[in-house]
Amino acid sequence: MRVLVTGGAGYIGSHASLRLLQDGHDVISIDNVSRGHAQAEAVLAKIGGDRYSPYRCDLHETERLAEILTSHDIDVLMHFAAFAEVGESVDHPLRYHHNNIAGTVSVLRAIDQAGTSRVVFSSSRSTYGEPAEDQIPINEDTPQSPINPYGASKLQCERMLRDLAEAYRRADRPFSYAALRYFNVAGCDRQTRLGEDHRPESHLIPICLHTALGKREKMAIFGTDYPTPDGTCIRDYVHVEDLADAHVRVMGVLEPGDERRYNVGIGKGFSVRECIESSKRVTGVDFQVDEAERRPGDPPELYADVSKIKRELGWEASITDIDETVESAWKWFKSHPDGWPEG
Ligand code: UFG
Repeated sequence: MRVLVTGGAGYIGSHASLRLLQDGHDVISIDNVSRGHAQAEAVLAKIGGDRYSPYRCDLHETERLAEILTSHDIDVLMHFAAFAEVGESVDHPLRYHHNNIAGTVSVLRAIDQAGTSRVVFSSSRSTYGEPAEDQIPINEDTPQSPINPYGASKLQCERMLRDLAEAYRRADRPFSYAALRYFNVAGCDRQTRLGEDHRPESHLIPICLHTALGKREKMAIFGTDYPTPDGTCIRDYVHVEDLADAHVRVMGVLEPGDERRYNVGIGKGFSVRECIESSKRVTGVDFQVDEAERRPGDPPELYADVSKIKRELGWEASITDIDETVESAWKWFKSHPDGWPEG
């Protein structure tokens, strides 16, 4: 198939592009590299050859997007491009409304013009906000009640897709979409071709690995008095390669009229302490870890009920051992201690 990937130079978009190329699909990638990395595109260009077409294009360039969709006769659009830092979204909400919501309006208008009929959207566990204790594990029917502008922006995009699907149904225009609600995405391509490089970095596992590398003197656990077995927060860490696999599977089953929504996680959680212990085991470095105050807005325990995606798509995470996830990231971080080179 011919797949247009927005955010193809980013962490998840680049890993999904790699998987698509490996499966023999054509990948048309658009990115403005405001958060992504041109070097990731360079790696993909070597692997994909003439089946890989990267464009320097912004989400807001509706006409140009429509032209790219039309000229490549795109079968499926995978929409990864978004800002994804919860803290930043609280400090700069308009940035999130502009890039994530208005950016998606632009993508959908381009689809409308070009007649693209299938979309796979990167949604987030953050759309659920802070579910009550009796709603853990989180299933797809858990009420969506985001608590920050990032989560709200992803929920708004899901709603826009739903509205568009409804309008097309009434107009007899074939259209389908899937919203994949990611839990905590982690790990890197196990062959070390692609990596994870956010600037600044806020995610737990990369921070552990930066500390192990000596790029940071020490790290902190944000809160040790949560009502969890070891007092630290529990999250569901899904490997980025398994996440890419979920995209490929759902793309393959979308039929006109389909509206699919799935949680993508491993279905169990690891605590912050468990992730740190894993990072120390994998790296062999006993780095310094301080105990600090809770980070505002962190719910104690979040993990997915993944029975729906297993039942309907036959997808389940192949990597459920946290050491294996950390190991795959460590290989890339060790070989790229300064992240992706510029340019
Ligand atoms: N943590 C620490 N120390 C650190 C960094 C994180 O203790 O230095 C803790 C956090 O407090 C949290 C856990 O590690 O309890 C995981 O934190 P992350 O920032 O790695 O992940 P979150 O669960 O907060 O959120 C992540 C992404 C978001 C995304 C969300 C769901 O950061 O971008 O998953 O999709 F929205």
